Amino acid sequence: MRKIRILKVGGSVITDKDEGAFEKLNRDALKEVCRAISESWDGLIVVHGAGSFGHPHVKKYGLNTLGASKVHLACLRLSEHFCSTLVEFGVAALPIHPMTFYTRTSDLECNVEYITRALNSGFLPVLHGDVIFGKDGIEVLSGDDIVIHLAECIKPSRIGFATDVDGVLLKGKVVERLDIETVERIEYEGREKTDVTGGMLNKIRKVFSMNHRCEVFIFRGDYSNLKRFLKGEKVGTEVVL
Ligand code: IPE
Repeated sequence: MRKIRILKVGGSVITDKDEGAFEKLNRDALKEVCRAISESWDGLIVVHGAGSFGHPHVKKYGLNTLGASKVHLACLRLSEHFCSTLVEFGVAALPIHPMTFYTRTSDLECNVEYITRALNSGFLPVLHGDVIFGKDGIEVLSGDDIVIHLAECIKPSRIGFATDVDGVLLKGKVVERLDIETVERIEYEGREKTDVTGGMLNKIRKVFSMNHRCEVFIFRGDYSNLKRFLKGEKVGTEVVL
């Protein structure tokens, strides 16, 4: 059976997430990401974050129906940028929009068969952080949650989280192999002491909550690191499940 890989490209890699940035694309970074993907995308699923095409909109417009429309449309614009850049590099990108693909009653639900069919037909499925119909109305669905959900269903051989840092940093140094004991130490010693940010800790917790076992890497989303991940090499922090 063909090996499946899932790559999450953080919103901070392809957009400007600095304070005050609103819908600012990081065009050069997006091109480098797409160039790396175009060189090895067999059996690959991409999920990208929303960055400054999502978070500031949620803050500004809220999540009533009109707000959710605006947030979703901004996510669509980023998806369009991402997928059309992939197509420029010769990749058969297939945008899949969670708002009309995922719902949450108690658990997340989607038509997983559609994704496997897209893969088997030679497409590169591209999903993204979005708003969805949740348990009690509209909610935000992060790209990280999509990755974990798809991993449980599709059972990839490796997962990569491309971020704007070199990996999980402990006292300024990249942790090469992150096991559960180290995570417990980070939780015990506190974020301030260990300099692991809240966002990173959340990501790590989600990865460790996964039932599926596979290789997981967290790394800076530049061209050479992406190439290494896509080639099957070790890169950044390896999360040891
Ligand atoms: C957030 O998605 C989605 C919205 C805010 C609508 P992510 O959580 O995956 O985005 P990044 O990677 O943090 O930017």
